[in-house]
Amino acid sequence: MGKGRVLFIFGGTGDLARRKIYPVLQRIMKRGKLKDVKAIYALSRAGFERGYLDTLDPDLAKLIRFQPFDVTNREDYRTLEKEISNFPGDELIFYLALPPHLFGTTIVHTGSVLRHFLNPRKIVIEKPFGFDLESARKLNFQLRRYFTEREIYRIDHFLGKVSIQNILSFRFSNYIFEGIWNKNFVDNVQISALETVGLEGRSSYYDRVGALRDMIQNHLLQILCFLAMEPPAVMDPERIRDEKVKVLSSVRKIKPEEVDRYAVRGSYRGYEEDLGRPSSTETYACVKVFIDNFRWEGVPFYLRTGKRLKEKKTQAVITFKEIPGNFGKLIGCMPERNRIAFEIAPGNRVILSFQMMPPTGFLSCPLESRMEVSLEDTFGGEVPDAYETLIEDILDGDQTLFIREDESEIAWEIVQPILDRWSEGRPPLYEPGTWGPKEAEEFIRRDGREWVLV
Ligand SMILES: NC(=O)c1ccc[n+]([C@@H]2O[C@H](COP(=O)([O-])OP(=O)(O)OC[C@H]3O[C@@H](n4cnc5c(N)ncnc54)[C@H](OP(=O)(O)O)[C@@H]3O)[C@@H](O)[C@H]2O)c1
Repeated sequence: MGKGRVLFIFGGTGDLARRKIYPVLQRIMKRGKLKDVKAIYALSRAGFERGYLDTLDPDLAKLIRFQPFDVTNREDYRTLEKEISNFPGDELIFYLALPPHLFGTTIVHTGSVLRHFLNPRKIVIEKPFGFDLESARKLNFQLRRYFTEREIYRIDHFLGKVSIQNILSFRFSNYIFEGIWNKNFVDNVQISALETVGLEGRSSYYDRVGALRDMIQNHLLQILCFLAMEPPAVMDPERIRDEKVKVLSSVRKIKPEEVDRYAVRGSYRGYEEDLGRPSSTETYACVKVFIDNFRWEGVPFYLRTGKRLKEKKTQAVITFKEIPGNFGKLIGCMPERNRIAFEIAPGNRVILSFQMMPPTGFLSCPLESRMEVSLEDTFGGEVPDAYETLIEDILDGDQTLFIREDESEIAWEIVQPILDRWSEGRPPLYEPGTWGPKEAEEFIRRDGREWVLV
């Protein structure tokens, strides 16, 4: 048999593996892309639930080998070593689909085993990458000891979403928008990820992390990067990631004593009952971010997320400045501002909100009108699952949509002062089914603005 690949999925019997990784591998296989995969090891302490493998395509199921394995038990890595020795020269892909507190130990032990081998290798790490700046630095230190950055794939699955990738294409392939994509024309940017659901079986995990870590530190800051970055000189993974790092590095650092001016938290009434114990974890967070560079100086980027809110929607909305007043004076009303929204959920849409004169008469007050483009309707077919894109990229060795070491740490640096401040006290309550705490409304109103969805 020629050179191939072998996948080792730590936590290969868990929810992510069963709901995402295997179904995606199945779809990729149908497209003829897994021909060189010789085996897929599912490593965990207990096995698959009865009958799970029968639900998969037989061609995929026969590649999957369950291996009883405890990542905290050094002895078990001897088995790993033995298995690896059966695949000289093949590419080894280690996918850490484990509870995050086990990432560090698994990296170190697997890395030590790999010292005995010359096989090409890749390591894939699920989110969350660290619990704070210090733990992210430690994980990076552990990774660096055994792997090169070219071998490391830190996942933020939002980057696998086509509607987020489209932000870059939309910006850099349309002259009509790029010219106004700056502080001279943009009043503010809002990135919202709003959920109507509560804990949904993730309570012990969620209560340890909260809204800021779960959504803003990673997903929403990634969207911010795509909205704010400069076009890279060449469309190369490293140059694209360089531009994202430049944006994150330009984000104004929040001083510890200023946190309350830049961030608001909340917890929905009934969270502690859902959790079954007292808690001071936030289920809502909003943060105001400034990017101190030539393009964006003075333009606030508002990031907000929360659970048990009024509507389920993930949208990035760019609101342009008000038109100069003289036209408003002439027609006796001030037209609404222009907005461009990138909707990530529930639809994959771009929405342009602009003003049109109604047919009632010349110079009557313009009314808000919308142009909507859905990726599915326009291009036909299904939008690929985020994990499908990411797993294909891992197989292809394309790191563009993965988080680089420096990026992972700078993103933590941005939120760390807020985490420190919120480690004390308790979040204010908000009613389920509303837009969040009244403090968040006051927060944006103080800037003379309001929260918007388009
Ligand atoms: N589920 C999702 O939709 C989702 C989405 C995005 C990211 N993620 C990330 O993916 C990772 C996995 O999440 P999940 O939802 O799949 O968790 P999960 O359902 O709890 O699965 C965890 C897996 O790890 C195994 N495991 C736990 N302790 C182990 C140990 N000591 N040694 C070996 N295996 C061990 C478990 O099997 P045993 O207990 O039998 O050992 C199981 O296979 C997490 O980092 C999560 O944040 C998940």
